[in-house]
Amino acid sequence: AKNNLCDFILFGGHGDLAFRKLMPALYHLCKDGYLGENSRVITVSRRDISNEEHISLVKEKLIEFLPTKSFNEDDFSRFEKKLTLVTVDFAQNQGYEKLQKLLDEYDDRDRVNYLSTSPKFFGDICQQLFEYNLINENSRVVLEKPLGKDLKSSQAINQRVLEYFKEDQIYRIDHYLGKDTVQNIMALRFSNRLFMHLWSSNHIDHVQITVAESVGAEGRWDYYNEYGALRDMIQNHLMQLLCLIAMEPPCSLDANDTRDEKVKVLKTLRPITPAEIATKTVRAQYTAGSSMGELVSGYLDGEVKQSNTETYAAMRVDIDNWRWNGVPFYIRSGKRMQKRNSEIVIQFKTMPHSIFEKSNCCSIADNKLVIKLQPEESIELRLMNKIPGLSETMQLQEVNLELNAPHTDKRKPDAYERLILDVIRANPTLFMRLDEVEAAWKWADPILEGWESNLVPMKKYTAGSDGPTAAVQMIAHDGRSWNDE
Ligand code: BG6
Repeated sequence: AKNNLCDFILFGGHGDLAFRKLMPALYHLCKDGYLGENSRVITVSRRDISNEEHISLVKEKLIEFLPTKSFNEDDFSRFEKKLTLVTVDFAQNQGYEKLQKLLDEYDDRDRVNYLSTSPKFFGDICQQLFEYNLINENSRVVLEKPLGKDLKSSQAINQRVLEYFKEDQIYRIDHYLGKDTVQNIMALRFSNRLFMHLWSSNHIDHVQITVAESVGAEGRWDYYNEYGALRDMIQNHLMQLLCLIAMEPPCSLDANDTRDEKVKVLKTLRPITPAEIATKTVRAQYTAGSSMGELVSGYLDGEVKQSNTETYAAMRVDIDNWRWNGVPFYIRSGKRMQKRNSEIVIQFKTMPHSIFEKSNCCSIADNKLVIKLQPEESIELRLMNKIPGLSETMQLQEVNLELNAPHTDKRKPDAYERLILDVIRANPTLFMRLDEVEAAWKWADPILEGWESNLVPMKKYTAGSDGPTAAVQMIAHDGRSWNDE
């Protein structure tokens, strides 16, 4: 959009995600001058309150969810001028004429329709927008996850939306792609000659991807219990990380060139068969324990008493292509783990021959590249180095070569700021194309089916631990171990 001028229409604008992430992101974009001067942020919600009440609610929530120093009255007074509320009942398809009246005031403006509602409303909302003639050629629609529970339901959601919007108007969010550290993977891989020839089965033994969270599922049982770790984290966030590590260099940074390469990776994922599902995958639920110094209840001690939903999933993924033949990717994600920790470990192969071991002086550790995404960000290359001194035989030690962005006092934008700004700028690079979502479900479906038919036992792990021992056994089965320090 020219000068980023748009109507930003936030469906489900009084929901948890909207208050926790989207409004704070919009507030920051406004504060930093990225929202066009006369842009409007139109909240569409079922709640029937006045505009004044809406504005004070937004203010209250911003104060609650923004980091302490970020909120300030002057910036808010600029932001609040952009805020409007329209009451629409999505379930009854009622109230759209009010939205129409508002949008018709500027009918050639770019329109970003952000659907932060349950996906069961996506189709109907798009249909109503169409029937009220609210979709113009500069309209875009942003879809929040979950985009289905499997391939079939995901296709059903997408097909409905595609009746009213063209694929290049659809922006499917995976907020991991908006994280700076995640985008940095492309920079690291494709701007450093150092890694160019090392990045393949010739030199890499295996890759580990971990996204561990210390939070549990409280507060969102209804959603979480229907989805679980595989659908909530692995099929989307971890798969995207895997793609960025595994993909070939795209021929340009154009949205479709990057997405083409990611799809190729997803299409070459080796399907996990029923015969190997029990050795290649692990699922588990947390039991009561202590997390970050607090006693916490188990997954089945809360609102859910009986459930077959996993709060932890780990698996071995193989990529059947030239670059990665024989290099397993071990991926895992869980809630209520010991600490919040997301990292990618590229484990290099053992030296073909070691003069140090031959002379019996010391052993050498294999090189590792550790990309830490959360909570702190860093990239570390673990190398061997001589211990300084006069010892008779040469002694080596493993040291860290750290690559850290120079420290600045500048605030780090949240992933949602980047993504919302990209939608406003009509840049879909960091959003998932239809074929990406479908290819990821195609791979996940057989695992979900195997788990549903109980081919893999549900394990337990104590809240606040490193996860189930079955995950340790899974990787040990291949003679390897997790990078847990
Ligand atoms: C969301 C999941 O997509 O990602 C949540 O639905 C999860 O269950 C969250 O907690 C993790 O995001 P982040 O950015 O905190 O790692």
